[in-house]
Amino acid sequence: MLFGVTTSLLAYACLATAVTTFTVPQLAGQDDTPALLEAMKDLSSDSTILFESGITYNIFTPIQFPELTNVEIRIEGNLTYPTDIPTIQKIVGAAGFPGSWITFTGGTNVTLQGSLDPHWGWIDGHGQAWWDAQNQINRPHGIAFSHINNGVIRDMKIWKPIAWNFATSGSSNIHAFNNTIIAVSSTQSFPFNTDGFSAGGSNMIFEDNFIQNGDDCLTVGSGASNITFRNTYCEGGHGLSIGSLGKAGQVANVQNVLIENIQMKNSLYGARFKSWAGGNGLARNITWRNIAFVDVPFPASALPAGPKPNSTSSNNTHIQDFVFENFTGIIKEYLPSISSAFHPS
Ligand SMILES: *[C@@H]1O[C@H](CO)[C@@H](O)[C@H](O)[C@H]1NC(C)=O
Ligand SMILES: *[C@@H]1O[C@H](CO)[C@@H](O)[C@H](O)[C@H]1NC(C)=O
Ligand SMILES: *[C@@H]1O[C@H](CO)[C@@H](O)[C@H](O)[C@H]1NC(C)=O
Ligand SMILES: *[C@@H]1O[C@H](CO)[C@@H](O)[C@H](O)[C@H]1NC(C)=O
Ligand SMILES: *[C@@H]1O[C@H](CO)[C@@H](O)[C@H](O)[C@H]1NC(C)=O
Ligand SMILES: *[C@@H]1O[C@H](CO)[C@@H](O)[C@H](O)[C@H]1NC(C)=O
Ligand SMILES: *[C@@H]1O[C@H](CO)[C@@H](O)[C@H](O)[C@H]1NC(C)=O
Ligand SMILES: *[C@@H]1O[C@H](CO)[C@@H](O)[C@H](O)[C@H]1NC(C)=O
Repeated sequence: MLFGVTTSLLAYACLATAVTTFTVPQLAGQDDTPALLEAMKDLSSDSTILFESGITYNIFTPIQFPELTNVEIRIEGNLTYPTDIPTIQKIVGAAGFPGSWITFTGGTNVTLQGSLDPHWGWIDGHGQAWWDAQNQINRPHGIAFSHINNGVIRDMKIWKPIAWNFATSGSSNIHAFNNTIIAVSSTQSFPFNTDGFSAGGSNMIFEDNFIQNGDDCLTVGSGASNITFRNTYCEGGHGLSIGSLGKAGQVANVQNVLIENIQMKNSLYGARFKSWAGGNGLARNITWRNIAFVDVPFPASALPAGPKPNSTSSNNTHIQDFVFENFTGIIKEYLPSISSAFHPS
């Protein structure tokens, strides 16, 4: 009996000391991704990957992490994308590009954590040049936190992303909190297609996030269930969206979504359901409640997602148990000249 207890204590002590911390090296003026990816071959479990404070890392090529177990990625330094548009477009247009500049391919117990220092821990996408050029060709998405079971995304800070920010497709048991997305243009209205969080998978809580952007603050995709999105500030975007669902006859399935305690400012929509005619399937048990808005033309809306819905099929995504509760605020007059600056998606 005594022997058994001693052994398990020892085993616990060994486990607890087994986490390796790897500080990502930085080479002046050069791409810091290759050395990280090389090192990751030995760090895919029980490790902390640290981007050090005081350093600006050049993420000139995409990062694709291997499958991870018990790994923390700490972004204490700044990370910068290439500033040059054609350099990124060439990479995004090449065969095998995974879709996002930073990709988690899967794993268990993975934490992606930013810095609490306001001057450090930013990921700078240099999106301004793309927005000014209205260039939407071969844009990378930001961070794909995909196929992770038990994941945390916290304290992350994104500065002028080129396009979509965080996506969680195929993941489960995710907690994303205290993240900041600043997709605010210095020269125009809020920039196109800079969605905040895209929820896929199941059992996720998104809370206490701060999002200024030019597309959906949240978008919940087909296959998502048990999603809570709360206590969040959304400014400038297209709303708290389900969908779009049913494109090209897709059989959608979205269940148990709760969106509550949201402040929205100058957003095109508040609660929003987007579906394509000709789709199929079901979105059920979706609640939006305690939504406080200022200058929002359409606080609650269900509209076709695209300009040409499929009229050859009489099917549609079915909806059931939608609740819109306690919306308060100021509706802004809809001015087509302003709203045409918004992308329809
Ligand atoms: C999760 O991973 C961290 C290391 O990043 C480790 O300290 C912790 O014990 C792990 N949790 C579980 C439940 O294994
Ligand atoms: C959230 O992050 C900000 C920095 O982005 C920090 O100032 C603040 O303390 C964090 N809040 C919590 C509760 O950790
Ligand atoms: C880190 O990046 C952000 C966004 O580009 C910038 O505002 C901040 O000044 C940078 N920090 C330092 C110490 O350079
Ligand atoms: C979602 O929550 C419901 C009710 O709490 C539960 O029965 C179901 O198993 C959950 N779904 C998933 C995919 O975990
Ligand atoms: C239109 O609906 C039909 C039948 O559901 C489907 O086969 C086709 O892919 C749809 N087209 C589009 C553009 O959604
Ligand atoms: C509806 O979703 C909520 C979460 O938003 C969940 O707690 C509840 O069990 C779901 N109800 C049904 C009937 O699935
Ligand atoms: C309605 O929402 C506001 C926040 O927008 C909140 O302060 C208030 O308590 C809510 N009322 C109810 C009855 O939940
Ligand atoms: C409409 O949906 C039903 C099943 O719900 C399916 O049997 C039928 O083929 C669909 N029709 C079209 C035109 O897609």
